[in-house]
Amino acid sequence: MANAVLGPNPIETSDPFAGKIITIERFILEKQKGYPGATGTLTNILYDIALSAKIIASRTTKAGLVEILGSTGRENVQGEVVQKLDEYADRILFKLNDHTGRLAVMASEEHPDILPIPAHYPTGPYVLLFDPLDGSSNIDVNVSIGTIFAIYRRKSLEGRGTLEDCLQQGKDLVAAGYVIYGASTMLVYSTGQGVHGFTLDPSVGEFLLSHPNIEFPAAPKYYSANQGYELYWSEGVRRYTEWLQGKDGNNKKPLSMRYIGSMVADFHRNLLSGGIFYYPGDSKDGAMSQGKLRLVYECAPMAFLAEQAGGAASDGYQNVLDIQPQSLHQRIPFFVGNKDLVAKAEEFLAKYDR
Ligand code: AHG
Ligand code: MN
Ligand code: MN
Repeated sequence: MANAVLGPNPIETSDPFAGKIITIERFILEKQKGYPGATGTLTNILYDIALSAKIIASRTTKAGLVEILGSTGRENVQGEVVQKLDEYADRILFKLNDHTGRLAVMASEEHPDILPIPAHYPTGPYVLLFDPLDGSSNIDVNVSIGTIFAIYRRKSLEGRGTLEDCLQQGKDLVAAGYVIYGASTMLVYSTGQGVHGFTLDPSVGEFLLSHPNIEFPAAPKYYSANQGYELYWSEGVRRYTEWLQGKDGNNKKPLSMRYIGSMVADFHRNLLSGGIFYYPGDSKDGAMSQGKLRLVYECAPMAFLAEQAGGAASDGYQNVLDIQPQSLHQRIPFFVGNKDLVAKAEEFLAKYDR
């Protein structure tokens, strides 16, 4: 992995940042120049998210040491047990963004309804949605977790933002990204000008550009799915998985399987190494479900990043970025990664599940 400070600089010489140590602040500011007329509002939201990420990272790396580990005993809107670190990350993201006058409204996976900007603070032109802690089942076992964020322009014209502001199609995203709290902390984001990754240097507390212009490698290595649920998958998904494994004889390049159980970490690995992550519908609770992942907090932002990195995302039948959300906590079956692997999934589902 490239490290802007220690390692040989991987940035190509045609790149204006070649040979330089670039902080995320400077990079975002440079990128803003590509948008004539930009006011800096979006730039500042991204700064605040980077700052939130540093504060959350300082807690995640101490998770085994401080009282933060373990469950609060309460359940969130999806009936899942809320971890303390989820609450902490949720609060940090809200508190850093509620008073800035840049947002009309927020929404978080941890809350049933939209999060209005408090009445005593001004509102602004953007909308922020987030999954404060992704992969929370991995907190207690020291496995990578993440944060996912999505930014839209508000649709309502004035005042406090509305539910409608939060229910926008992924194709209208202005920016999206994630933070991965792993062996190192990375922030990966896109404003529609490619996907860029920054690694936190904890000794100086700065995110430094380490992965400019990330693209899915052409030759994918991995497929990632919770195959423990295979019994409950549709025929299309089962046959697709056999194809990925080379079992049906038609795929001459079988893939290795890797599954972490934190979508951010599974996506990140596949983004750098090539591959597909999928969480399909299943029938483990009776009727065929819409899977587990939430459209607005998890799938749409990752779909945006995937497309920006030359990949694709689908619910098995259509581009995730085209889906109009109907509710805040709507779930969809999700396939994301290298374009041809996503297309192949659609092919199998169209053939066996329609
Ligand atoms: P969250 O922690 O935000 O609720 O999300 C967990 C999600 C996702 O990160 C991961 O891919 C998936 O749950 C894992 O689910 P399984 O344990 O069913 O595989
Ligand atoms: Mn999640
Ligand atoms: Mn979460």
